Amino acid sequence: MVSPLVALTPRVQSAIAAALGESFREADPVLRPSQFADVQVNAALALAKQVGMPPREVAAKIVDALDVDGVCDAVEVSGPGFINLTFSNAWLAALLQEVAADERTGVPLQERENIPIDYSAPNVAKEMHVGHLRTTVVGDALARTLEHLGHNVVRQNHIGDWGTPFGMLIEHLLDVGKDSAEAELLVTDPNAFYQAARVKFDLAEKAEPAGSAGDFNTRARTRVVALQAGDPDTLALWQELVDLSKTYFNKVYSTLGITLTDLDLAGESTYNAVLGSLCDELEAAGIATMSDGALCVFLDGYTGREGKPVPLIIRKSDGGYGYATTDLATIRYRVHDLKAHRVLYVIGAPQALHLNMVWDTARKAGWLPDDVVPVHVQIGNVLGEDRKILKTRSGKPLRLMMLLDEAVEKARAVIDEARPDLDDAVKATIARQIGIGAVKYADLSVAHNSEYVFDLDRMVALTGNTGPYLQYVVARIRSIFRQVAMDPADQRAPIRVGEPQERALAQHLLGFGDVVAEVGDEYEPHRLCAYLFELAQSFSAFYENCPVLKADSDDVRESRLSLCAVVFRVMTTGLDLLGLEAPDQM
Ligand code: ARG
Repeated sequence: MVSPLVALTPRVQSAIAAALGESFREADPVLRPSQFADVQVNAALALAKQVGMPPREVAAKIVDALDVDGVCDAVEVSGPGFINLTFSNAWLAALLQEVAADERTGVPLQERENIPIDYSAPNVAKEMHVGHLRTTVVGDALARTLEHLGHNVVRQNHIGDWGTPFGMLIEHLLDVGKDSAEAELLVTDPNAFYQAARVKFDLAEKAEPAGSAGDFNTRARTRVVALQAGDPDTLALWQELVDLSKTYFNKVYSTLGITLTDLDLAGESTYNAVLGSLCDELEAAGIATMSDGALCVFLDGYTGREGKPVPLIIRKSDGGYGYATTDLATIRYRVHDLKAHRVLYVIGAPQALHLNMVWDTARKAGWLPDDVVPVHVQIGNVLGEDRKILKTRSGKPLRLMMLLDEAVEKARAVIDEARPDLDDAVKATIARQIGIGAVKYADLSVAHNSEYVFDLDRMVALTGNTGPYLQYVVARIRSIFRQVAMDPADQRAPIRVGEPQERALAQHLLGFGDVVAEVGDEYEPHRLCAYLFELAQSFSAFYENCPVLKADSDDVRESRLSLCAVVFRVMTTGLDLLGLEAPDQM
């Protein structure tokens, strides 16, 4: 399976070698899209100086030696020495026919690698915020894509399920009772639960004399100690908290269509048992040293103000372990136990320093060999209309489920307007698919490390670079096939390429495999979004100019139906890799 450019390149290289000498075979032939033809070869301009000839003459010599029989209809030297090539319709049709016959629609199967992907990672008894939304959506698209490319993806949901606040949270859970309405908040509005515990704790701190107010803070502190000591009753209570939070996370995941399950949970607490020995090892190796009572790693190249070295603290002076220690454990586990070839951390951009220090420490310790590539897929901020981190009007963090409900509501208004003929249940399903798709697409269509403004009205629009616009292409093709009582999957008639819009569409379709491979190689789902958006535009141009069911002849009609069927497969596959559903009708 090859794209036109890939097929053309060796032919141009041979022509350059024949025209200018073998030593030029490896020179970049400089193939570019052209305004006047399908491709432009700019090598003549690039090489003219070296061969000491005017570019137009060089171009003419290359053209003389160029064998594009059956591949190009027209070869022309233009301007100062460009070579314009126009593909033959038959050749394009033959290439597309191969893609149509391919179960994978041109997507390559890469050599299988083990790729743990750390994404989502919300915190127990806390609301997932829009930052978590983004790592969840981007991470899931990468997991789906890398899996489709043939890799062994190991999803790692590193939830925040350990630390000092759990003393206070457990005591609060005990106070309200695990079957109470307050406990239920952990599932519906976790921040409210957390806040209630925090308020109680802070009040107790201020109470005079210390320790009154039911000793809540004293109990909380004792509880942390019991938790860390592995007291079974305390662990059981902690597990209840975690389980309630899991219910909340899973509700969000199923609403969003995220592929994470409980089997993918690998929270901070998973590593508890190894943290002590991990620290001992680093200390014994001389990599970690005591400083002000804390066990620290000092690394070259990490200095703060006034050139002071920045420590990576791996054991605090009170003996506790933090985020750095657990992340040392994650990298060691993923390399050693999961046998990772690459490790992806889909995490907020501000955590770059943390990750780099962790990885450098792991390299020093021999836990991260040079042939394993750790990647920080940096997640940028989601902003409100005021261009500050998205908050509610009252300044509180947004509740994710409410945001998603609002997206579905807005999509419902759009579909109510567009399709008043449909019945309620159908409209409800479509509204969910569009609303959620819109939010996910908005997240995915910008580079993952750049900021974007969260604007629901723009996201759910049926026009513009939106999820619904892409979903609409699928619905439209379904409706064409519904009219002929057929399934697009069964349409296999030969494809002919004639009209300019057919040529453009065919060429775009041939690029699908390369784009998916790029997303997997560069960890950039927005490239697939851009590709699918262009596909949607190219399809619309085709559909406006080339009648399908009313084509002039049966052959053309069948061919155009086949073309629609390939668009359908590429679009649904692409949307699926991004994690978007495609509604039956819109
Ligand atoms: N729980 C963290 C947060 O909410 C993210 C954890 C990311 N994963 C990791 N291995 N550090 O910010």
